[in-house]
Amino acid sequence: MSKKESGASARAGEVVIAVNTPSRSYDVHVGAGVLERVGAIARDAAGGERACVITETNVGPLYADAVEASLEAAGYKTSVLTFPAGEQHKCLATLETLLEGLAEAGLTRDDVVVALGGGVTGDMGGLAAAMYLRGIQVVQVPTSLLAMVDSSVGGKVAVDLAHGKNLCGFFWQPSAVVADVRCLASIEPSLMRDSVGEVVKHAVLADPELLAELSREPFTFADCPEEKLVRIVAENVRIKRDVVDADERERGLRQTLNLGHTIGHGIEAASEFTLGHGSSVAAGLCCMARASLAKGWCKPSVYEAILAAVEAQGLPTDTRLPHDAVFDYMAHDKKRHGDSMNIVVPAELGAVEVRRVGLPELRELVELGCGTGKEA
Ligand code: GLY
Repeated sequence: MSKKESGASARAGEVVIAVNTPSRSYDVHVGAGVLERVGAIARDAAGGERACVITETNVGPLYADAVEASLEAAGYKTSVLTFPAGEQHKCLATLETLLEGLAEAGLTRDDVVVALGGGVTGDMGGLAAAMYLRGIQVVQVPTSLLAMVDSSVGGKVAVDLAHGKNLCGFFWQPSAVVADVRCLASIEPSLMRDSVGEVVKHAVLADPELLAELSREPFTFADCPEEKLVRIVAENVRIKRDVVDADERERGLRQTLNLGHTIGHGIEAASEFTLGHGSSVAAGLCCMARASLAKGWCKPSVYEAILAAVEAQGLPTDTRLPHDAVFDYMAHDKKRHGDSMNIVVPAELGAVEVRRVGLPELRELVELGCGTGKEA
């Protein structure tokens, strides 16, 4: 399989998806073994003399040498900055250390950061690049499923504050994204399953065929042919690309990517983050679909199709957490507008609606959708 979708050079087994946002155009390279091309891709897309790889303590030992070798083969002088793995390190203190590290490595405005890792690393590397010298280029090299299908594309980069997740950041589009599906071999099966929550979300948003496929069998790394991994990651990137091309700054259409997230964030926080993000999104998606069915906003067939896919992926379809706790966290979501919030309703398969609801109606949706499924 070889599919070229942009002007960039693609190799056999690689899909290249062009992203065109108002602030930057770039290619997302999805393939098996594409990690060895990071240097050549960075050279074409970003140029520069120096490349600094930003990674963390779990991913660095696995892939940093290969990425550095590829960058050196493409003529870069390289350095590597490694920070401690874990969401708790996605903070201003780590950012400061990374910025000092970029200065120490002598990167100039023409040089490039290579963010190698999962979602936390994409945020840290992207935000460091956005701030250093008022902005240098970044190549995103996602190694987790969540980062490949979601966070590496679209330019959202942030750190957490004591008051909440992702409260301090920028839109900073990468110069290229390189997603090597072979890196998924190093992902824990439970984390892989969790991340499929975002894949189900994309399928509900824009791809009923993918949703039907997801309801037939679990999407795991084990026994999954590389071609299928590439196809599914690339399809998710296309779905996200179509949204961010149309609305880079989340003024309209990009809000639809929050499908499942309003109740999902409430569930994730009320579980004290013991439930993974993707699992929380999956449960939030089902709860919102159940509430939408009760309100007459979607048909039973839509609800059933969503439930079937989430169930087949071994993800939660409901929550037993107390409504008060879930609602309290939802009501403090950073996406709240005054006393109301935009929610995303799965109106049809492949077509969602954004509705503005007041806090009492939001509470009603929690009552209707959470803990009321047969499986709760
Ligand atoms: N993950 C949602 C977005 O990038 O907008």
